[in-house]
Amino acid sequence: MQTKFNYLIIGGGIAAYKTLDLIRRLRDMHVSVRAILTDGGAQFITPLSVASLTGEKVYTDLFSLTDETEMGHIRLSRDADLVLVAPATANLIAKIASGRADDLASTTLLAANKPVMVCPSMNVEMWLKPSTRRNIMQLEADGVTVVGPASGDLACGEFGEGRLAEINDIILAVKRSLGVGNLPLNGRRALVTAGPTHEAIDPVRYIANRSSGKQGYAISGALHRLGAETLLISGPTNLGTPEGVERLDITSADEMLAAAEAALPVDVAICVAAVSDWKPKHLSCQKIKKGSKPMLIDLLENPDILRQLSRARNNRPNLVIGFAAETNQVLENAKAKLLAKKCDWIVANNVSLETGILGGDQTEVHLLTSDKVESWPVMSKQKMAARLAESVAKYFTLQAS
Ligand SMILES: Cc1cc2nc3c(=O)[nH]c(=O)nc-3n(C[C@H](O)[C@H](O)[C@H](O)COP(=O)(O)O)c2cc1C
Repeated sequence: MQTKFNYLIIGGGIAAYKTLDLIRRLRDMHVSVRAILTDGGAQFITPLSVASLTGEKVYTDLFSLTDETEMGHIRLSRDADLVLVAPATANLIAKIASGRADDLASTTLLAANKPVMVCPSMNVEMWLKPSTRRNIMQLEADGVTVVGPASGDLACGEFGEGRLAEINDIILAVKRSLGVGNLPLNGRRALVTAGPTHEAIDPVRYIANRSSGKQGYAISGALHRLGAETLLISGPTNLGTPEGVERLDITSADEMLAAAEAALPVDVAICVAAVSDWKPKHLSCQKIKKGSKPMLIDLLENPDILRQLSRARNNRPNLVIGFAAETNQVLENAKAKLLAKKCDWIVANNVSLETGILGGDQTEVHLLTSDKVESWPVMSKQKMAARLAESVAKYFTLQAS
């Protein structure tokens, strides 16, 4: 196998120690790693540990006479097939976004002519600061791949988005970028629906629900990271498209069904969208005026997308997964839904307001198949998405064996 070269820039974040495991995993994949430690990074892990694991000299200093004559900062940026920044601190992200080059890491990044991938890791408030949001958007606009961050307990004792992405997810993203190794869903096509639908009442009003789309978006990203060619059919949301996922925006349930049917054949369809069960029977072309009489809206049932895909005569996806958002008798209702819709799996969760699941970052689900129920602990929607994508991959591996 041809050896690939990876530059790993290790920033001064508390997650720097995790890169030691990352290096080991990259080496196991026959990816050579040359590391650059920022001054901050060297406060958290030693050049000696990094050198022992990479088997290479570790670079730290822009103005080192010996390093510059042996390697040179420009060559450092050119040998790599990929420049990976992990953990990417808020500071490093800001430097890359603004094109600063005041140390070896940022100079190498500015001079790089190869793909750059950053794995942010920081406190949740740092991650949510408008300046960091702007910098991340700038990086994405500049073609930098952003992996993570994940959501969960943070080293500082707080909770939220900002954890370094799981090493598995970073490895998968590296595999995709370098084109090394087989991904378990390579050659598979996936369809994911996400978000709410809006059912128009008149030109300015609509029926909607509280779905944020976070879970469906996370699942589409997770399927893509396992190698699936993934189409995300999304109702109105404020979310960015996960890296590598094709996204089609729709508004109503009718449009979502038409888009889903047009996407067939696919190997797996995951219906995460909170499709409105009803739509107004009549759409008023003019804004409805306030009147003296009570306002009544006649409702019609919307098409049932999960049911239609599960019962499709032609091109039924090999695996159809539905979501059951319930507020009571979660398991009983989910079992009934599995049978009624004739889908293969149901992911059930309790969306009562007090759980904070609808619109939140955390979830707690039960996965129901025809013969078993798995209850998963509370976890981030990203983590749940990765676990579901792995279950899908396992299903296809078992089918193929
Ligand atoms: C104990 C400690 C932990 C830190 N953890 C992080 C972190 O996880 N993420 C981050 O962006 N900055 C973190 N910082 C701040 C960075 O180390 C600081 O911004 C530094 O200038 C980053 O340098 P670099 O980007 O060149 O590595 C931490 C600082 C300290 C003292």
